[in-house]
Amino acid sequence: MRARDVSVYYGAKKAIDEVSIDIPSKYVTAFIGPSGCGKSTFLRALNRMNDTIPSARVEGCIELDGEDIYKSGMDVVQLRARVGMVFQKPNPFPKSIYENIAYGPRIHGLAEGKAELDGIVERSLKRAGLWNEVKDRLSDSGTALSGGQQQRLCIARAVAVDPEVILMDEPCSALDPIATAKIEELIDELRGNYAIVIVTHSMQQAARVSQRTAFFHLGNMVEYGRTSDIFTNPLEERTKDYITGRYG
Ligand SMILES: Nc1ncnc2c1ncn2[C@@H]1O[C@H](COP(=O)(O)OP(=O)(O)OP(=O)(O)O)[C@@H](O)[C@H]1O
Ligand SMILES: [Mg+2]
Repeated sequence: MRARDVSVYYGAKKAIDEVSIDIPSKYVTAFIGPSGCGKSTFLRALNRMNDTIPSARVEGCIELDGEDIYKSGMDVVQLRARVGMVFQKPNPFPKSIYENIAYGPRIHGLAEGKAELDGIVERSLKRAGLWNEVKDRLSDSGTALSGGQQQRLCIARAVAVDPEVILMDEPCSALDPIATAKIEELIDELRGNYAIVIVTHSMQQAARVSQRTAFFHLGNMVEYGRTSDIFTNPLEERTKDYITGRYG
């Protein structure tokens, strides 16, 4: 994905100020920065999730494979399948585990019949590292799973529609360390096939899972580069202050 001079407003308030960034495939890009700096706002702009907030307005250009995602006539449902999202709080549908995964492929016409749909469900759950834990209880409710399992279910749901980009907004903040480690492992496995963006408040997590890091502060993207450079040799004083814990 490619963003150029992207600003996001809530009413008259500017929450993101002319951000330009290229988000490459097969990499994990971490967005870090203090609370309220605009990480979630910018993340949501990448799949037009801000459309659901009446006061929100996006300026500038965001492209997916060279296509302007804000152009008129853009199919937003299709876009959100290509650019999937995983939220802070796991949010499975109040339906069976099977239906949580099958729903997207079905509405997008990705499966010809039951056997093919079964295949997609199995493959997606395997990709999300959940298959062995749920294969004998596919008709149980998705909400009956543990928090960590629910988050992997949500990742499987995003993966099921064959996205190009997966956006994750603090996907581990509601999870214990073991479930967090599982999700981090999963992110590392998945990155071979997608562009992944993860918002995180944990520097350790950003350092562990990402190859690129963008540091946001007060609506600006202060610095963006290789994760190792950002953490060991930041160019900007504000980045250094943040990663050394002086604020945030
Ligand atoms: N729906 C909204 N309406 C109005 N203002 C909003 C809305 N959502 C966010 N904002 C404002 O936009 C700014 C950026 O918020 P955002 O949620 O993007 O920050 P963030 O970096 O994700 O913070 P956190 O780390 O706490 O999640 C904040 O000043 C916030 O108050
Ligand atoms: Mg946020």
